[in-house]
Amino acid sequence: MFIEKSCEIHLARRPEGLPDRDCFKLVNQPVAELKEGEVLVKNLWMSVDPYMRGRMIDRKSYVPPFSINAPLEGGAIGEVVESRNPSLPEGTKVSSMMGWREFFISEGQDLQPLPKTSVDDQAYLGILGMPGMTAWAGLMQIAELKKGDRVFVSAASGAVGSTVCQIAKLKGCYVAGSVGTDEKARYLQEVLKVDAVVNYKTDSDLQSAIAKACPEGIDVYFENVGGKHLEAVLNIMNDHGRIAVCGMIDQYNATSPIPGPANLSQLIVKKLKMQGFIVSDHWEHYPDFVQQMSQWIQEGKVSWKETVFEGIEQAPDAFLGLFSGVNTGKMLVKLS
Ligand SMILES: NC(=O)c1ccc[n+]([C@@H]2O[C@H](COP(=O)([O-])OP(=O)(O)OC[C@H]3O[C@@H](n4cnc5c(N)ncnc54)[C@H](OP(=O)(O)O)[C@@H]3O)[C@@H](O)[C@H]2O)c1
Repeated sequence: MFIEKSCEIHLARRPEGLPDRDCFKLVNQPVAELKEGEVLVKNLWMSVDPYMRGRMIDRKSYVPPFSINAPLEGGAIGEVVESRNPSLPEGTKVSSMMGWREFFISEGQDLQPLPKTSVDDQAYLGILGMPGMTAWAGLMQIAELKKGDRVFVSAASGAVGSTVCQIAKLKGCYVAGSVGTDEKARYLQEVLKVDAVVNYKTDSDLQSAIAKACPEGIDVYFENVGGKHLEAVLNIMNDHGRIAVCGMIDQYNATSPIPGPANLSQLIVKKLKMQGFIVSDHWEHYPDFVQQMSQWIQEGKVSWKETVFEGIEQAPDAFLGLFSGVNTGKMLVKLS
């Protein structure tokens, strides 16, 4: 297959606050001829994730920052369309971290062939991929979820949050969550069978709304948002509760330091455990997670939603939409 050009998205400048479209640049790159041992991968799907905002900042973190005038990176599902590597024949579907571009050349070490299942390929960017695994690791490894726990999750209709809700229900827990629209609230209650939902944008007193949704208090808080959510939940936590700190999307675009919750002493009074985590540190549990999640999928016990933008040029808008709640379930870009 002869491919002359591949479109990719570069970081044009580092954002201050919420990024705008000028932070991104669409670049046409020539595609080189394959050398022995290489494959040409055509991306079919790419993921946009909130953590990418952190990589736009030039600072030391658990992953290096994105470089200016270089392609962004992220999860992607592609297909080998030309191969000079016998272990990756044409037609092989692969997952990689080479998103934000239409095509790329690889020697194969950075590619994971997808298992042959009846599940749609892009599920490996969502429920069966990093976000699903994050929900699992946060609940099982960090929060040490037990049957009967009263669980509260923020950003509950997103890729991670909607999986948290379902795993916790399957484990026999009471589950409540917060979302930003009534439509998302209905999705949680009617489809995911969550016990109670708070709309944090319309419920004027967040703490009272969460307390009402969790009449017996909270044993496990799955934290995706931070800020006012954390402060409100700390006051409602039960003794010996566990807080798995997964994300704090409320502050990813902050332009000045965020004050901490005024009531952190609740950690002492209620003998709480609060622990942050990064999913990649827990990847040794991925096979257990996939086995369990695949079984639940086969049995029809879990479901998921996707919000899909089409075309590489839409990728920045898909990414920005994460911060205004455009998505229900996994935010994806379909590239082909
Ligand atoms: N620790 C890890 O290894 C790890 C891995 C993956 C993800 N994460 C974190 O997990 C969280 C969820 O990630 P995801 O990929 O599943 O994203 P997501 O929930 O699918 O998308 C983001 C959602 O967050 C909500 N949101 C945006 N800004 C908000 C704000 N200021 N206050 C409250 N809610 C807000 C929006 O829904 P509403 O309409 O409900 O506002 C939006 O749809 C993020 O904090 C992310 O950084 C952590």
